Amino acid sequence: MNARSITLVYYSPTGTTRRLLHAMANGLAPDSIEEIDLTPVASRQRDEIAVHGDMAIIGVPVYEERVPPVVEPLLPRLRGRGQPAVVVAVYGNVGPGIVLPQLSRACEVARLHVVAGATLIGEHSFCHDALGIARGRPDQADIAAATGFGTRVKQCLASITGLHAHQSPSLPGKLPAIARLLPRGIAKKFTASPRVDASSCTRCGACVVACPAGAIDPGSLVINEKTCTRCFACVRACKDEARSITLKHSWLVRRFLGAAIVTRREPRLFL
Ligand SMILES: Cc1cc2nc3c(=O)[nH]c(=O)nc-3n(C[C@H](O)[C@H](O)[C@H](O)COP(=O)(O)O)c2cc1C
Ligand code: SF4
Ligand code: SF4
Repeated sequence: MNARSITLVYYSPTGTTRRLLHAMANGLAPDSIEEIDLTPVASRQRDEIAVHGDMAIIGVPVYEERVPPVVEPLLPRLRGRGQPAVVVAVYGNVGPGIVLPQLSRACEVARLHVVAGATLIGEHSFCHDALGIARGRPDQADIAAATGFGTRVKQCLASITGLHAHQSPSLPGKLPAIARLLPRGIAKKFTASPRVDASSCTRCGACVVACPAGAIDPGSLVINEKTCTRCFACVRACKDEARSITLKHSWLVRRFLGAAIVTRREPRLFL
C-alpha cells in the first residue's frame, strides 16, 4: 500500500498538534496534503468530516487525560472509505490518558482502519514564566522523531497488501484515578481566564481570532468565563503581552504536576 495523498484532521489551539502532524506527514512524503483544521469555531459547524486522502492522520491535544470536550461531539461526524489512519495524542508531558483508544474507536465507527498510534509532546498550554512545563516542545528532537515515525508508518504500509488482513495495533490508554474522581473542566479551578492589561493592549484583535471557543467579545475584549476552555491560545497570539496566564492555588498545581515539570517524556509510536 502507498499513501500518495494524506488528510490531516486536527484540533490545535496553540499549534503544537498541527506542527507535529505536519512533521509526521513529511515522513510519509505524500504528493499532497489536505488539512481539516477543527480549531476555528466555524470549521466545527460541518455535518461531516470526510477524509478524501489515501490515508488520514488524526490528532488532538490531551485535555484532562481525554479528547478535548469540544472535539468529542465531532468524532461521530468523521467519515472514511476504509482508508488507513494514524491516531495521535499530543500531550503536555503529564500523560496521554485515554486519547489513543478514544480516537481509535472513532476511526472504527468512521470506517477508517487504524495502522498506528503515536503519543507526542507539546509545550503545556499552562507553561509560562512561573511554570516551565514542556517548555519549547516540540523541539528539534520531537520534530525529528515525528518525521521518523511517519517514515516508519510508510514502511509499514508498504508491507501491507490488503487492510482486511491487517490487525490494528493495540493502543495503550489509562485514565488515572485522579482524573476519574475530578469533575471535567477542573482546569478552570486552577487557572484564571487571561484578562486584558489595557495599558499594553493595542486592540489588534489577534486574540479574538485565535480563540477556538469564540469566548472573547470583539468589542470589549472581555472573556466569557463559561465558554473559555483555558487553552491560552489568546495569550500566545498577543504580541503585546497584554494577556497572561495566572494560576490559582499555584502550590497545588505544582504539586499535582510534580514529575511532569522536571522529567522529560519522550514520543512513542505504536505499530
Ligand atoms: C484544559 C487543558 C487540559 C490539559 N490536560 C492535559 C493532560 O491531561 N495531560 C497533559 O499531558 N497535558 C494536558 N494539557 C496540555 C496540552 O495537551 C498540551 O499543551 C498540547 O501540546 C496542546 O496542544 P495544541 O498546541 O495543539 O493546542 C492540557 C491543556 C489544557 C488547555
Ligand atoms: S491580541 Fe493582545 S493587543 Fe491584540 S486585542 Fe488581544 S489583548 Fe489586545
Ligand atoms: S479566551 Fe479562553 S478559550 Fe479563548 S483563547 Fe483565551 S484561554 Fe482559550
